[in-house]
Amino acid sequence: MSERNVWRGFASDNYAGVHPKILSAINSVNDGHEIAYGEDTETSRFSELVKEHFGEHALGFPVFNGTGANVIALQAALEQWEAVLCSESAHIHVDEGGAPEKMAGIKLWTIPTASGKLDPQLIEAQLFDVGVVHRAQVGAVSIAQSTELGTIYSVAELKALADCCHANDLLLHMDGARLSNAAAALGLSFKEFTTDVGVDLVSLGGTKIGALAAEAVIVTNTQSEQGRKLAHAVPFLRKTSMQLASKMRFASVQLNTLLENNAELALANGRHANGLAKLLEEGLLEIAQEFPVVSLPNRAEANAVFPILPMDVIETLQQKYRFYIWDQSTGQVRWMCAWDNEPEDVQGLLAALRLALQSR
Ligand SMILES: Cc1ncc(COP(=O)(O)O)c(C=O)c1O
Repeated sequence: MSERNVWRGFASDNYAGVHPKILSAINSVNDGHEIAYGEDTETSRFSELVKEHFGEHALGFPVFNGTGANVIALQAALEQWEAVLCSESAHIHVDEGGAPEKMAGIKLWTIPTASGKLDPQLIEAQLFDVGVVHRAQVGAVSIAQSTELGTIYSVAELKALADCCHANDLLLHMDGARLSNAAAALGLSFKEFTTDVGVDLVSLGGTKIGALAAEAVIVTNTQSEQGRKLAHAVPFLRKTSMQLASKMRFASVQLNTLLENNAELALANGRHANGLAKLLEEGLLEIAQEFPVVSLPNRAEANAVFPILPMDVIETLQQKYRFYIWDQSTGQVRWMCAWDNEPEDVQGLLAALRLALQSR
């Protein structure tokens, strides 16, 4: 067997491994036969947990990955001629390889926003030429919680967004690849900042918070006529989008492990990763006082920090640590903390930054 080089960087929460509790949960259901394609005991437990966490009228549909969840949710939300409003930094726009366009023929209408967040003014500014065939008609708004820039919508901001969407006959989709980080940061249940504020569809993330390949599309309110239509469409779209797992029990058991006991594991992992990002932010702010070439445009509200650094310092740091350059033109980088990063990783990166700045 080859020797593995074990290291931890700050590139992505996807670089982390699978949480040991989730690996052992997968193993624990690996005996006997179960009915395939979702009629198994783990998926039926998942349905109960979805009701517990998103409300009694919520339905959940496990899928393999976040891109799949987003593309299915948006297909369900839109008529064929409709478009989605999203921020310019939205994962669906910049990091899904054009999957919404290619796989579902969805027109994405992007809005520039420095914080990664949308608001009713930004949305309303796009709602003109309604009914005019020459302009793509907006059918839904998609936001991420937490956002791709590590910021978080408050409940009031979400409520205002949902009200604005519904007043304009639009559905609100939430890309929740990092929903557990958001819940941990807000100190709220999932339901309080999704179903209760009027979010119609959620892509619930599992992988970044410790799962192997498990996410889900959640329809929050199947009591409304719109919700019934969504819940009818999602299973068909999941199949045609190649996201229907035959051995679904292995995906569902992962989500269940995250969500059991009041989502104990998901929230603990979220709190841990968020806490490390705060530690990084505190260290960075100290360093920025000493070295004004370092700046931090956004606060770290979830598990990512986005400092701006001189290019030569980035190059020095990247010899030791993996992380991505977010904006080549400004020198903004993304430092993402995962559930398995340790405070020593953070101290190590900060010390390496200080050293690189001192030796310029
Ligand atoms: C905001 C956001 N949405 C969705 C995803 C899910 O992507 P994937 O298809 O790689 O699971 C990611 C992963 O990086 C993400 O950051």
